[in-house]
Amino acid sequence: MKKSLTVCVVGCGDFARNFVPLFKAHPYVSKVYVCDLLPERAQEYKKMFDVETIDSYEQALERSDVNAIANFTQRHLHGDIVRRALLSGKHVYSAVPMASKVEECQEIVELVKKTGLTYMMGETCIYFPSSMFCREKYAEGAFGRFVYGESQYYHDIEHFPANFKADLTSAGVPPFFYPTHSTAMMLHALDTYVTRVVSFGYQDQEDDLYYKVGVNQWDNVFSNEYSLMQLANGGVARVNECRRIGYKAPSSSIQSFYGTQGSYQFNNAQHLLYSKTPNGVGLENVSDYVNPEAMTAHKAEKDFMLRVANHEWQGNSYSPVQEKERKRLPESYKNLGNGHMASHQLLIDDFCSAAYSGALPTVHAWLAARYTIPGLIAHQSALQHGAALDVPDCGMPE
Ligand SMILES: NC(=O)c1ccc[n+]([C@@H]2O[C@H](COP(=O)([O-])OP(=O)(O)OC[C@H]3O[C@@H](n4cnc5c(N)ncnc54)[C@H](O)[C@@H]3O)[C@@H](O)[C@H]2O)c1
Repeated sequence: MKKSLTVCVVGCGDFARNFVPLFKAHPYVSKVYVCDLLPERAQEYKKMFDVETIDSYEQALERSDVNAIANFTQRHLHGDIVRRALLSGKHVYSAVPMASKVEECQEIVELVKKTGLTYMMGETCIYFPSSMFCREKYAEGAFGRFVYGESQYYHDIEHFPANFKADLTSAGVPPFFYPTHSTAMMLHALDTYVTRVVSFGYQDQEDDLYYKVGVNQWDNVFSNEYSLMQLANGGVARVNECRRIGYKAPSSSIQSFYGTQGSYQFNNAQHLLYSKTPNGVGLENVSDYVNPEAMTAHKAEKDFMLRVANHEWQGNSYSPVQEKERKRLPESYKNLGNGHMASHQLLIDDFCSAAYSGALPTVHAWLAARYTIPGLIAHQSALQHGAALDVPDCGMPE
């Protein structure tokens, strides 16, 4: 009998509340604890989810009955939190991104190699329908050789939760320090990695205090960052991270994906697949296959496009392209919540199954590095007005 998981969720903020019930209900998890720097937050979780609290992260690391950490601390803290967990012999599930420094990503990969522990980055977007569709069709050969694609994560700072905006020292984080929603969609679809990047920043011009020198801890003035990434497979991707943009949804998507034999285009709720023919192209509207079922159910209504643009039906409903993945979920997840294009349940099942069995998880440390490091280098390129920079690669597990 393998050792079951005892998980301590660190960071009882906005996001972790979606995941505590999923850890609790997973058949490989025997117990869930929570902890937060702010005791009132841990107490709120205790009441809400009927879990025990641990007073501090340091205590969680010392406890021999805790064998896994689920990290939901603020995005710029992940490198140190994860490093310490691995050094203490704990498996790690971490919200994105992997870390904010290249060296921290490399160290996490080395620690995973050395210890054999499970590390998984919970990148929701690998299960987003547009990415899954491109991955499936690319593997089938429908696009031929990949030549060019566009992926992006657009999330206006005004749409972020109040507590995120209230912390002015960290709300103005450089957009490419949180790069994985856009990079992972493309790279997961293609099974490749970035070798070189050029990037430009948009210097923010609004009167509020997020993207200003002397306000945020990075002295960052860019609210949007745009890049071209050279890929190891010979293709090129345009990858953007924007936080000041009058656009709400789909907030994270592959907008286009072009190959020598076919292509894909997506906007609002319309997904189109083109294929090269002797005299032109074939065109298939694949929207019903890619959109969530709840969205498709409303497609004939007059305000459909507007409701999609305002983020409706993008939480819990599965789409047909996710069906194969959905089938492997445990029975105990049936009536539980989900989120982010129905990705939450799949991610927690990925991690628990991997940590329990010892198999590699879906977004293991090497892939997490491949999805995070290009963004960190892209920010350096933006600071150098678009200098072309090499992107270090940690390779793949042997
Ligand atoms: N789609 C996605 O993948 C997605 C969506 C939302 C958030 N996230 C990620 O989830 C993470 C959490 O986001 P959030 O909005 O819940 O943040 P939050 O600020 O609401 O919560 C973070 C919590 O971590 C606690 N914390 C920080 N350091 C700690 C420590 N050393 N010990 C104990 N507690 C500590 C803070 O006190 C805070 O309560 C972020 O990294 C964010 O990037 C990912």
